[in-house]
Amino acid sequence: SGFPSLLKNSLLKLGAPKEFLEFFEKFGTGEDYPRIPEAKGSIQAIRSEAFFIPLYELFLTYGGIFRLTFGPKSFLIVSDPSIAKRILKDNSKAYSKGILAEILDFVMGKGLIPADGEVWRVRRRAIVPALHQKYVAAMISLFGQATERLCRKLDEAASNGEDVEMESLFSRLTLDIIGKAVFNYDFDSLTVDTGIVEAVYTVLREAEDRSVAPIPFWEIPIWKDISPKQKKVQAALKLVNETLNDLIAICKRMVDEEELQFHEEYMNEQDPSILHFLLASGDDVTSKQLRDDLMTLLIAGHETSAAVLTWTFYLLSKEPSIMDKLQNEVDSVLGDRFPTIEDMKKLKYTTRVINESLRLYPQPPVLIRRSLEKDKLGKYPIKRGEDIFISVWNLHHCPNRWKNAEKFNPERWPLDGPNPNETNQEFSYLPFGGGPRKCVGDMFATFENIVAVAMLVRRFDFQLALGAPPVEMTTGATIHTTQGLKMTVTRRNRPPIVPKLEPTLRTDSAGEDISVANP
Ligand code: HEM
Repeated sequence: SGFPSLLKNSLLKLGAPKEFLEFFEKFGTGEDYPRIPEAKGSIQAIRSEAFFIPLYELFLTYGGIFRLTFGPKSFLIVSDPSIAKRILKDNSKAYSKGILAEILDFVMGKGLIPADGEVWRVRRRAIVPALHQKYVAAMISLFGQATERLCRKLDEAASNGEDVEMESLFSRLTLDIIGKAVFNYDFDSLTVDTGIVEAVYTVLREAEDRSVAPIPFWEIPIWKDISPKQKKVQAALKLVNETLNDLIAICKRMVDEEELQFHEEYMNEQDPSILHFLLASGDDVTSKQLRDDLMTLLIAGHETSAAVLTWTFYLLSKEPSIMDKLQNEVDSVLGDRFPTIEDMKKLKYTTRVINESLRLYPQPPVLIRRSLEKDKLGKYPIKRGEDIFISVWNLHHCPNRWKNAEKFNPERWPLDGPNPNETNQEFSYLPFGGGPRKCVGDMFATFENIVAVAMLVRRFDFQLALGAPPVEMTTGATIHTTQGLKMTVTRRNRPPIVPKLEPTLRTDSAGEDISVANP
């Protein structure tokens, strides 16, 4: 109060810029540090649409770090690569998962995503080795088989002239994959609708509802017990937990009976799952912790990949020339074979298409942290206990960083260049996060997406269905469509496959390299 505020008010009326006034305010109160720019929000705005869109508008106005306040609550919104790097990597020990851990507690407990401190350190060390190279290579054929099931389904739809809703099919594809990959369970959700599949979806939807709810309604004591929806969630959770406990028990028996010696690249051919690896490694852990970790891997690996595939096919449907180029690459690299690990290196344009899809539609669009101690972000000191959203969406759409930021342009990364990641893009591109909490499934997920995209575009053309609802975004943990992705799928009219002649293929006696003669 007093002179500075009087001055400020008069200047405001005259239309002086806010930054200028803030400087004055500071000057008046004798504060010697810069204050974080502040935006006032309304919860309504955040709830009504994909909340990262208003955050993008605010980023353009307030810059790479600003405070968003609603009533008593406030969040720091970070959209600056070097501040993101400080939080995620350089000073990562000063940050926890904060609200995220609170919201996900009912389903993930102390699983790897929400866990912090010592629990996280121990579990990360146990789980990362399970995703070794031999495991990931074995997964390639699993991805192929699961995608083949989806192809059959699409083939049927193409024959019957029925349109298909791809978002839910992708969700089922990735659920089938992750179930086998993590605990050797075949949900077979592409073929049948069992109670367990429905239970998994009930739990997932609840996690997403909670993450966008303005108040933690699930903590209200009586309501929790009488709300039909909460009762359904409890029942679903019970079924999923029991199923997981059964799978753990079955796997324990298998491990007890097997003769295999445990070593670094240990893998049981019949059951290459992560669960099997953990049990065989003698992972010393409570069954609750193990279940939390399995559940975390299930959710982490399911929703994200499904969303990537959904938005990739949406983007492709808008850019036929990119689809052409993609199909050409897949035709020449794969032909009608199932993909192998060697193909992953060769499907370069396919990889760029996925890199670029992850730039435009990052999954999840924001990363959540809470400061555990004081820190300095950019030029601003911050207190302990600040809730922080790192907007990956803003980083990936920043108009100053990206040329034609809104354009789907896989060519922005040269084919012979390195695969873009947080390190070589200096934290302006974070498809899998960065620092010690970086995704443990990045390689798994990349190959899964490559295999699925390659096999699908090899067999079919995809178009937005006539009269399909507009494709708009909404958020849970990942970016969903509001009304599905309705597509018309047609079998491709392909030219006959002329096998590419490799240099090793020679005319017998002459020993002449005929690949030269082949145009
Ligand atoms: C963490 C993205 C697939 C397991 C993360 C993070 C991101 C991410 C951005 C960092 C979260 C943060 O810092 O707050 C993705 C995307 C995927 C994908 C885009 C698919 C395209 C997978 C798969 C698995 C997995 C398939 C498991 C097989 C995990 C786990 C963490 C994690 C366990 C937590 C790691 C930790 O905190 O130590 N993921 N992920 N993810 N992801 Fe993924």
